[in-house]
Amino acid sequence: MYKLIKPILFQFDPEKAHGMTIDALKFVQRHSKLLPVVRQLFHYENPILKQNIKGISFPNPIALAAGFDKSCEVPKALENAGFGALELGGITPKPQPGNPKPRMYRLVEDDAIINRMGFNNIGMNKALSNLRKYSYKIPVGLNIGVNKLTPYEERYQDYIRVIDTFKNDVTFFTVNISSPNTENLQSFHDKDEFSQLCSAIQSYKIKHDISVPIFIKLTSDLDLPGLGRMLDPIVETFDGIILANTTQQRDNLHSTNRSEAGGLSGRPLFERNLEMINYTYKKTNGQFLIIGTGGIFDTDDVIMMLRHGASLVQIYSSLVFEGPGLTKKLNKSLTQYLESHGYNHVSEIIGLDVK
Ligand SMILES: Cc1cc2nc3c(=O)[nH]c(=O)nc-3n(C[C@H](O)[C@H](O)[C@H](O)COP(=O)(O)O)c2cc1C
Repeated sequence: MYKLIKPILFQFDPEKAHGMTIDALKFVQRHSKLLPVVRQLFHYENPILKQNIKGISFPNPIALAAGFDKSCEVPKALENAGFGALELGGITPKPQPGNPKPRMYRLVEDDAIINRMGFNNIGMNKALSNLRKYSYKIPVGLNIGVNKLTPYEERYQDYIRVIDTFKNDVTFFTVNISSPNTENLQSFHDKDEFSQLCSAIQSYKIKHDISVPIFIKLTSDLDLPGLGRMLDPIVETFDGIILANTTQQRDNLHSTNRSEAGGLSGRPLFERNLEMINYTYKKTNGQFLIIGTGGIFDTDDVIMMLRHGASLVQIYSSLVFEGPGLTKKLNKSLTQYLESHGYNHVSEIIGLDVK
C-alpha cells in the first residue's frame, strides 16, 4: 500500500507531507471506529517481545522516536500503529514557531533526512491538554527541549518546568541536550554545564519524590572519550540513555541536498550509534538501560542494536522511507529470528555481541 502512496507523498515538500500524515492520523483519532482498523493493520503481539523495564511494561522493543508528533497531537492514533512505546515532543515550556521553512529535507539516495526544525511546538500547557484527552495502553514518554529565547543561565530550568508539568501524565521523560538546531544546546555535553543540569534534576527528583524515569539523549557527534566522561554523572542522575540523536557530519553522502544545515538522521547514523551503544554497555557492565536509535531500517538492524546492548530501539526516518507497515514487519521478523535461534525471550540477546 505504501508503495503506492509514497511516490505521491514524495512529490510534496517533506514537512508538508509530514503535515498530511499528521492530518490523516487526526482523522483516525477523531473517528474512533477506525482505531481497531489501524490496530489490525499494524499491530503484532507476542509475549516473546514483551519486556518490563524500570517498572514499565513495553509490549515490544520498537518505539517511535521523538520529533514525529512534536505537539502531542495524535498519540491515540499512534498507540494503535504497532509501536512498543511513543516518545512525543520535543516540547518546550513556551510555544515557539521553530526555524524558517524550508527546514526538513529528504536525502533519497542516502535513506536519510536533514532537519533544522528548531523545536517547533505548541508549548507544554497545550500539549498537556492534548495528551489528557485520552488514556493509553502503551508507554507514552515526552522529549523535552529548551526555548530559543530562554536566557543561557536559565536553560536547565526549562527541563524542570516541563517535567513538573507532565509528571503525572507520562511514562518517561527524555532530556534532549542533543538537538543541533537550538543555539548552544549541545554545550550541555560540556562538563560544567552538564553537572549543573544533573544537580538541578537530582534536587528536583529528591524534593518532589518523582518516580517517573528520566532518560538523557546525547548527540551522535560525541566521541567515545567524551561519552566515557559523561557516563558516571549520567548513571547517577538518569534512568537510561538514548543513543543517539542526529549528526552534523556529512561524510559519504550522495544526495545533492546533503549540505543543508541541520541534523542528519537515517541510515548513515547506524554504524556510529551502534559503536556508542556497544561502548556504553561495556562501560556500564550491562547494568544501565540503553535505548538505541539512528538508521534502523530492517530486522537485522534491530537485532544488531539489541545484541550490542540496547534494550529498546526507536525509529523515525525509516518510517518515512518504508511506511507505517514497518513496525509490524520488524516485530514479526524479530519474533521469527528469536524463535528460530532457540531464544525464549528478546532480553536474552541484549548485549550478546559486546566483548
Ligand atoms: C524531522 C525530525 C525531527 C526531530 N525532532 C526531534 C526532537 O524534537 N527531539 C529529539 O530528541 N529528536 C528529534 N529527532 C531525532 C529522532 O528522534 C531520532 O533520534 C533520529 O532521527 C535518529 O533516528 P532515525 O535515524 O530512525 O530517524 C528528529 C528527527 C527528525 C527527522
